[in-house]
Amino acid sequence: MQSQSFLSKCLLIFVIIKDASKLELSYIPSKILCREEEINKIKLYLKAGKVLISGSVGTGKTMLARYIGGDAYVNCYVNKTEHRVLEDILKQLKPRFNPAGLPTQKLWNEIEEGKTIILDEIDGMHADELRHFAYTLSRQYEFGRKIKYIAITRNHFILKQIINDDATWSTFAGKSIVELKPYTWEQIKEILFYRAEESLYPNAYDDDSISFIAEITLNSPGHMRTGIELLRQSAMIAESKGHEKIEIEDIREANREEWMSDIESLDDDETILLLAVATACKNKAYVSVEDIKETLQIKQEEYGMKIENFDRTFQSLLQQGFVYEGNRGYTILDCPTSILIEEIEKKLRR
Ligand SMILES: Nc1ncnc2c1ncn2[C@@H]1O[C@H](COP(=O)(O)OP(=O)(O)OP(=O)(O)O)[C@@H](O)[C@H]1O
Ligand SMILES: [Mg+2]
Repeated sequence: MQSQSFLSKCLLIFVIIKDASKLELSYIPSKILCREEEINKIKLYLKAGKVLISGSVGTGKTMLARYIGGDAYVNCYVNKTEHRVLEDILKQLKPRFNPAGLPTQKLWNEIEEGKTIILDEIDGMHADELRHFAYTLSRQYEFGRKIKYIAITRNHFILKQIINDDATWSTFAGKSIVELKPYTWEQIKEILFYRAEESLYPNAYDDDSISFIAEITLNSPGHMRTGIELLRQSAMIAESKGHEKIEIEDIREANREEWMSDIESLDDDETILLLAVATACKNKAYVSVEDIKETLQIKQEEYGMKIENFDRTFQSLLQQGFVYEGNRGYTILDCPTSILIEEIEKKLRR
């Protein structure tokens, strides 16, 4: 009997994550959603020899480039000089070739015609190195040596400024630019559902948890990067706590920010209202104003308090970022409600 309950506990531990490797940042999903048009454009431009992918953080630039594929991939933020970039390319194209001490022109000559190279975060190179590199790369065609490339930047306007030469720019990128717009909430949900389907067990997530992660993703500076990371973290927390599925509080825990000391600066009305919001949000993704008012009533009676102006106090909490207005109602995004409730109660008792 005992061993059976032990066994079922063990089984419960593994009901969330099916394949963690599929949530690693470097993993390339077999299907890429919401970028069909962009993929076609990239392929089309690349056929003619070059493409520049531009888009802010977490819009899927690296993933798309790797999905389409190249013979060598180099991160120019890590390899900041022309020589280092070429060395890295050749390490992949010709593992037995030793580039040490050779002049850059010799290295250029070693890259075989027809190869495709991926130049990620190209604006991460030192500016003068980048100018020379872009110039030489775009001139390869004129020397009759076709080296194809997918270059990646977060902002092609800034890249153009760094290159600072119209002739180089027009041969290097010209009109072959594919811009990746940030995803919408609906798109983020679609992508997260698909990524969860690949990596988690079917009952480990639902519309509520995925929508909630999408909510955080939409507004985070890391965009989809944050989305995937949060999905992974929440799944790990859920699993470590022995939950049967990812709970909303697991996501809040994964997204936790250290702002607990900020509640000290709230006045009494704000404090009791925040307590009401946190209590109403317990294990729930979103609540309505009515839910909040109902809980507030109970809390006010409990603490013998009465807030003066609900609307003004609520607006203040929204503006300060304690409470968040999402697509489906109001919520707390970045702290487990149990911890928040505990801290506020401590403050109110003092
Ligand atoms: N359309 C999509 N379908 C599936 N997964 C996606 C999609 N877009 C982005 N992702 C995932 O989101 C994460 C971030 O994407 P990626 O690393 O390509 O962003 P990036 O634009 O290169 O960001 P950065 O500028 O920070 O380098 C990756 O885990 C990637 O697999
Ligand atoms: Mg990237």
